[in-house]
Amino acid sequence: MTVLRAVPLGCGHYLPQRVVENSEFETWLDTSDSWIRERSGIERRCFAAEDELTSDLAIRAAKAALADADVPATQIDAIILATATPDETFPSTATKVQVALDMPDGFAFDIHAVCAGFIYALSTANAMILSGQARTVMVIGAETFSRILDWQDRSTCVLFGDGAGALVLRAEEGQGDGSDRGVLATDLNSDGRYHDLLYVDGGPSSTGKAGCVRMVGREVFRHAVEKLARSGETALAKAGLTTADLSWLVPHQANLRIIRKTAERMGLDMSRVIVTVHDHGNTSAASIPMALSVAARQNRIRPGDLLLMEAIGGGLTWGAAVMRW
Ligand code: UT7
Repeated sequence: MTVLRAVPLGCGHYLPQRVVENSEFETWLDTSDSWIRERSGIERRCFAAEDELTSDLAIRAAKAALADADVPATQIDAIILATATPDETFPSTATKVQVALDMPDGFAFDIHAVCAGFIYALSTANAMILSGQARTVMVIGAETFSRILDWQDRSTCVLFGDGAGALVLRAEEGQGDGSDRGVLATDLNSDGRYHDLLYVDGGPSSTGKAGCVRMVGREVFRHAVEKLARSGETALAKAGLTTADLSWLVPHQANLRIIRKTAERMGLDMSRVIVTVHDHGNTSAASIPMALSVAARQNRIRPGDLLLMEAIGGGLTWGAAVMRW
C-alpha cells in the first residue's frame, strides 16, 4: 500500500558574520574559556549585527534551502517558522520571509516551542502534508537570542548564539514502511509545570518588554538527559525502527555533555552524532536545521540515511522526529 510522506528536498543555513570566541566574555564577566568549553562544549557563537533581524537570517537560510532543493519559491505552499525571538510581537516572522521570497500564494505562520521549535514545526509540516493541506512546505528555525540575553548573567549569556536553518519538504509516495524517504514518525511533549526552569522574564502581556532568558541550568540538564533519550526511543518505536537502524543522531545543540549522555543512553557511538555546538552555541529552534545543513554540505548526511532528531526547551517542551534523508 502506498502512503504519503513528507520528503526532504533540500536544506540551507545562515550564520551572522560576527563570530564571538569564549575569551571575549572574559573581558567583562567572571568566566573563562575553559569553564565554558568544559561545561558546555561551546567554543564560539555568532551574533547578529544590530540591524540584522531574525527574518533576515531566516530569509538567507530559506533562499539557500530553495537553491539546494532546486525548487522555485512559487512552488512553496506553506512556510512554518519556529522562533522564540520574532522581529515583532505580530505579524509573524514567517510572513516577512514569505514576502522576501516573492511568494504571493499559500500561507505562513510562526510556531513557538523555543528550543524544541524545529521538531514542532517539522511535525506540523508533516501533518499538513499528510492531510493534503500543503504539498511543498518550507520549515525554518531562526533565532536572535542575543536580543534576549542578560549580559551580566554568566550562567546564560555565554551559552546562546544566533542563526537560521531551513528545510524544504514535499509530498511523495512511499511504501508505508521504514525504508521510505521522508518523515517516518514524530513525538511531541510538553509539561508547563516546569515553567520556572527556563523562561524569559518579560513579554507583551506581562511587562510590555521583551525580557531576558532565565534558566536553572542544572535542572534543565537533568530533564534533558532523561527526556531526550526517551522521546527519541518513542519516535523510533512509532516508526518500527531501533537505534541500530540509525545513520545519525542530529540532536539539539545546547550542551556537548547532554549530547554525549543522550547518545550513551541510546547506545549510540559519538561517531554517529552530528555536533555543531562548539561553533554555533545554543541557537534554540535554529540548532537542528543548521546542524542538518552543515552535515549535508559536508556530505556526511547522504540520501537514504536514517536520522533521529531530538530537542528540549522552555515550557518545558520536548520531542523527537525520525526522518530518512
Ligand atoms: O536549549 C534549552 C535547553 N538548555 C539546556 O539544555 C541547558 C542545560 N544546562 C546546561 O547546559 C548546564 O547546566 C550549564 C552549562 C548551564 C551549567 O553547567 P553545570 O555543570 O550544570 O553548572 P552549574 O549550573 O551547576 O554551575 C556550577 C558552577 C556554579 O558555581 P557554584 O555555585 O558551584 O559556586 C556557577 O555559579 O559554575 C558557576 N558558573 C560559572 N562559572 C564560570 C555558572 N556559569 C558560569 C560561567 N563561568 N559562565
